[in-house]
Amino acid sequence: SRSLNLAVIPGDGIGQEVVAEGLKVLSAVLPQDVKLETKEFDFGARRYHATGETLTDADLDALKAHDAILLGAIGDPSVPSGVLERGFLLKLRFAFDHHVNLRPSKLLPGVATPLAGQPEIDFVVVREGTEGPYTGNGGTIRKGTEHEVATEVSVNTAYGVERVVRDAFARAQARPRKKLALIHKNNVLTFAGHLWTNVFNKVAEEYPEVTTEYMHVDAATIYLVTQPERFDVIVTDNLFGDIITDLAAAVSGGIGVAASGNINPSGEFPSMFEPVHGSAPDIAGQGKADPTATVLSVALLLRHLGYEAEAARIEDAVSADLGERGDKPARSTSEIGDALAVRVAG
Ligand code: IPM
Ligand code: MN
Repeated sequence: SRSLNLAVIPGDGIGQEVVAEGLKVLSAVLPQDVKLETKEFDFGARRYHATGETLTDADLDALKAHDAILLGAIGDPSVPSGVLERGFLLKLRFAFDHHVNLRPSKLLPGVATPLAGQPEIDFVVVREGTEGPYTGNGGTIRKGTEHEVATEVSVNTAYGVERVVRDAFARAQARPRKKLALIHKNNVLTFAGHLWTNVFNKVAEEYPEVTTEYMHVDAATIYLVTQPERFDVIVTDNLFGDIITDLAAAVSGGIGVAASGNINPSGEFPSMFEPVHGSAPDIAGQGKADPTATVLSVALLLRHLGYEAEAARIEDAVSADLGERGDKPARSTSEIGDALAVRVAG
């Protein structure tokens, strides 16, 4: 019989609540013969306050032994900004070489968008996950003086750029519209821009069926609002990808439904799946959080592990659930999870 060995990191705030619903739906959708084993890890603000630790080498070893990781959210106002971001989330993404940060945007029927009309939005952003300005290559001199200078160096390697660009081409090739846009800022960031554009054009020669375009990131923010239907697959660097995927979430149903995967395609390390939203301490513990983004992240997790039919069942269930929300009274976190679990099982 098959098994799915999952590391679960509920984390802080609403992370606890939404992960519980994600697991509920996962259990309901998995075929009978798949043995689901979960191990919970207590990373986040509480552990940091208690021990000063964010993510140790021993933690990484323990996580490594799993098929995948499901993460709720990490972060709390009681922890100084940057400590958990760098010490936990980015550390994990880098240690497990999650170089494909996959963020799909699909506007489902019946879901509100701030955009006029109901544009067809169905694209996926392939955000590079291990390089760019996120590497922490920078420094400060004359700190605290009026002559302080701070640098924040964006690291782009031919190896790192090529592997993520190849992943994006393969995804574009597999989709009906077969379109891929490179988003960068090569008119100003000429060194990194040259590397990205060169690699992109080189790999494009191997994919004659994929229609490509290049777009500056500032222009892309306009098109994401005025013509989101023009996008199919987008590939971009770590920081541009961070920014445009928040915009993408905002136009395609909001942060309550935005899912993501931090993927290590080779399978050398477990990939991690998480909602794009944060820990939302303001509504934590009240059963108000929408678990849909986590449930959709579970679908990405299943697809990554080869459970395509089960992933599709979850996405169909979410689509139906969102489509029927209409003017009905708001449901609690667990009521939404229950409804989705019933749908995927039925
Ligand atoms: C995200 C978040 C993180 C990022 C932060 C919390 C480090 O904004 O997952 O998009 O910038 O990648
Ligand atoms: Mn972000």
